[in-house]
Amino acid sequence: MTTQSSEEQARPIVRVPFGDSLRQYAALKAEIDAATARVLQSGWYILGPEVQAFEAEFAKFCGAAHCVSVGNGTEALHLALRALDLEPEAEVLTVANAGVPGAVAVRQAGLTPRFADVDDRTHTLVPGSLEAMITPRTKALMPVHLYGHPAPMDEIMAIAERHCLPVVEDCAQSHGATIDGRTTGTIGLLGCFSFYPTKNLGALGDGGAIITDDDALAERLRKLRVYGWERKYHSTIAGGINSRLDELQAALLRAKLPHLARWNELRRERAQWYRELLAQVPGLVLPEDVAGHVYHLFVVQVGGGRRDGLKQALAERGIGTDIHYPLPAHLQPAFDDLGYEPGELPVTERLAETVLSLPCFPELTRAEVEAVAAAVIDAQARV
Ligand SMILES: Cc1ncc(COP(=O)(O)O)c(C=O)c1O
Repeated sequence: MTTQSSEEQARPIVRVPFGDSLRQYAALKAEIDAATARVLQSGWYILGPEVQAFEAEFAKFCGAAHCVSVGNGTEALHLALRALDLEPEAEVLTVANAGVPGAVAVRQAGLTPRFADVDDRTHTLVPGSLEAMITPRTKALMPVHLYGHPAPMDEIMAIAERHCLPVVEDCAQSHGATIDGRTTGTIGLLGCFSFYPTKNLGALGDGGAIITDDDALAERLRKLRVYGWERKYHSTIAGGINSRLDELQAALLRAKLPHLARWNELRRERAQWYRELLAQVPGLVLPEDVAGHVYHLFVVQVGGGRRDGLKQALAERGIGTDIHYPLPAHLQPAFDDLGYEPGELPVTERLAETVLSLPCFPELTRAEVEAVAAAVIDAQARV
């Protein structure tokens, strides 16, 4: 039981959820319901006109020649790597601070993940340490645009060119993020997206997609997502699986896509509000801002071993937060066989103990951001 000061008792409690899918549904109810009815009444539920139209619309939004939709973001990464036809067990360099889907996808493709450390302000790959890790076994690079912050693609592409390595961009958290006007996912050879419901562009279920300008890779991907079929019932390439976006999710994503750019602007605005309100809080490091960041998450760093205490204090005031991510991929028991030891990726490991994601979504109100900021300031002042 926590005791409240008289000042706290006087202040009304504003409960702030970490996310709230229902607000988006309420705002788009007519469009969502119409899209749902359209698919239900069509009698066609897999690989039909909605998928075809969504692929064309999403490719256009990103500025890519092709979009191949699949079942989820992990399979987008898996199939993108499979399409490259790399030798078995070849190494793919990526990061360990983005959860496990990337590493799982590398494994699904029969390859071996290796992890580079990240920058402590941008949470993305450090080009210098990436290049130092390249060996003859390295066959692909897989940067992640984590939290919506674009990875340093100019430097990464220069490294890739020097070493003749394909680049697969993990854009699961960066729909619409840009670098000098180019959309993330169009800079490397392939860009992979997740449409998990909470993403900047989220389905109402699972979904994913791969974008590319490479005609041959797109054609391979279209086969790989349906058992390696060249045409119905005829498999011509090995490694195919069943990974399809369904018509219903495609129709729902089509209803939402026209709102994505505005939603990203609203996310940026909420991030800006946090920046103003939290500018001088002791022990708190705010995320680095950069043009083109789309704030899938607003992630602060809490120093002095205070992260879990702050999370708890906010929870007691009805404020939802999350940790992205508490255990780096290289230290997950599932990847023990890779042979990593604690201490090998010092920045990644420190960030796992200090990062805290505050509520940040387009429908969040100014009053809610102020309530979160006031609670953070108050909790940090009590340390
Ligand atoms: C950085 C990153 N990569 C890949 C994925 C995998 O996406 P999905 O959950 O759709 O498989 C996610 C989402 O969870 C993610 O955040």
